[in-house]
Amino acid sequence: MKFDSLDFYREHASRYSNLSHEFTHSLYTDSSLTGLTGDMDLLKRIVKLAPGRRGLDAGCGAGARDVHLLNAWGYQAYGVDAVEENVSLAKSLHPEIADLIQVVDLREPLPFDDASFDFVTCNAVIQHMAPQTTEQTTLPELARVLAPDGVLQLMFKVGSGVVTVGDKAYGSQSVARTFQLYSEYRLLEVLKELGCTLVEASGKEELGGLMYFNDIKPMRHCVFWVRKSDSWSGSTRPTTTGAGRAKR
Ligand SMILES: C[S@@+](CC[C@H](N)C(=O)[O-])C[C@H]1O[C@@H](n2cnc3c(N)ncnc32)[C@H](O)[C@@H]1O
Repeated sequence: MKFDSLDFYREHASRYSNLSHEFTHSLYTDSSLTGLTGDMDLLKRIVKLAPGRRGLDAGCGAGARDVHLLNAWGYQAYGVDAVEENVSLAKSLHPEIADLIQVVDLREPLPFDDASFDFVTCNAVIQHMAPQTTEQTTLPELARVLAPDGVLQLMFKVGSGVVTVGDKAYGSQSVARTFQLYSEYRLLEVLKELGCTLVEASGKEELGGLMYFNDIKPMRHCVFWVRKSDSWSGSTRPTTTGAGRAKR
């Protein structure tokens, strides 16, 4: 079984952007924490956890809502996405961040220097990648571009194997979509090897640790933050080859 291709996003860029900007799909149900009600709770918290103001939204989606919001809040946030249509839509919707968004495939090395960002978000993206690519290229690259003490937010569909569900948000008929599921424990293991460890909640009301929720489909998601050690000296270079690295 093959998971969703990028063609889905090419075809539905405009619809995705509308849903995202209306926050239609950004509210969660069956959350494991009372303070976790939607995307905004995570965004507001990660900027507090981060040691500085430079951010990257990896797989920022059509319209790059969060890149736009972060910059409006005074952060210096960049966005990348593999789909040209998603990036062009973001540039036309939010011209003020046009220079901060670019087409980049997260299955390849990233065009940013080591330690470029204080925080990185990667929400609902690895569901479109083979676990081997995620483990050997994408996560090492996200860890590489994080500054020491920087925080990575990883959100994914939780489980094992590949699953197909009907999505009713893209037309009068339900569209069959296929996603790669991930084990939260395996991802944490890989990230630990890259010098990144789980950010635990420090109080009862605080977000942190392994957090779970359902989206509108509904599908079960896990999201967590990991912090990169400030004394990490290992290599996070990907083990696959890809496009040459350009400077930002
Ligand atoms: C479900 S959307 C999530 C968008 C955004 N992160 C959000 O939470 O709203 C998945 C996004 O991942 C992007 N994507 C999928 N595979 C990618 C890849 N290999 N490299 C970069 N972006 C990718 C898609 O183009 C799409 O915009």
